[in-house]
Amino acid sequence: MSDVMPLVHAVNVHKSFYGVEVLKGIDIDVAAGEVICLLGPSGSGKTTFLRCINQLETIQGGRIWIDGELAGYEEKGGRLHRLNDKRIAAQRREIGMVFQRFNLFPHKTALANIMEAPVHVAGTGKAEAEKRGRELLERVGLGERCDAYPAQLSGGQQQRVAIARALAMDPKLMLFDEPTSALDPELVGEVLAVMRELAAAGMTMIVVTHEMGFAREVADRVVFMDGGVVVEQGPPEDVINNPQHERTQAFLSRIKEETEEHAAALKERVAAEEL
Ligand SMILES: Nc1ncnc2c1ncn2[C@@H]1O[C@H](COP(=O)(O)OP(=O)(O)O)[C@@H](O)[C@H]1O
Ligand SMILES: [Mg+2]
Repeated sequence: MSDVMPLVHAVNVHKSFYGVEVLKGIDIDVAAGEVICLLGPSGSGKTTFLRCINQLETIQGGRIWIDGELAGYEEKGGRLHRLNDKRIAAQRREIGMVFQRFNLFPHKTALANIMEAPVHVAGTGKAEAEKRGRELLERVGLGERCDAYPAQLSGGQQQRVAIARALAMDPKLMLFDEPTSALDPELVGEVLAVMRELAAAGMTMIVVTHEMGFAREVADRVVFMDGGVVVEQGPPEDVINNPQHERTQAFLSRIKEETEEHAAALKERVAAEEL
């Protein structure tokens, strides 16, 4: 067995809001280069867990190590001490996050959105940041749209800009929180394609998604959460095709129904438009 710590090593993570516990002892490891799909019903704690990894939330118990470094704390004389804001910001910079809503600056072009953090946070020179920004937009298939403003881009294009923006800081880890849930169905594929390419290039990723096709094809491991705990996890062919737990089965059959309803509605709409 290797004694190298996984890139993400979350142990017994507890999180409460106003006394209500929403993460009840989460253990999740993610190896470098691994892609994890995190599934679970609404309210199961998926977003909260991603926010804990990214230190947008403090935790009340447990530990999270990112690349061997304790997130948010250092251990001195057997006790934990909270890191100062500067050191926390430095840790957070190593993690890219993509949300359901793209949160691009509306008054900045695609390229300027991508250059923002490298120039103003990392202190990268403008020329270098611009060169990298253009490469990243090329990589997500938007090399021709560098000067477009978010309002001039479709939702799928905006989300691809958001992915390029996260990549601009050279993260060790990418977190995706339902990146395609807010998109029209016909725009989902282009975003998933970019994520698939990232996975193939070896990026370590935790992806919260209801896209079972993506999970099946791209995930190395699927983790099913419900009620603030990990219910089951394993290779996608096991968890998705042959779930062991009743809660996983119920969730998956509900998702399947919704997906079929969406597909039928889309087909109807396309047919109506063609008339
Ligand atoms: N900032 C917050 N304040 C209070 N409760 C919250 C907050 N964020 C999340 N919660 C609660 O935590 C639970 C888990 O939420 P969340 O992590 O968003 O679940 P999921 O992403 O799986 O839908 C929910 O009951 C939600 O209402
Ligand atoms: Mg969520």
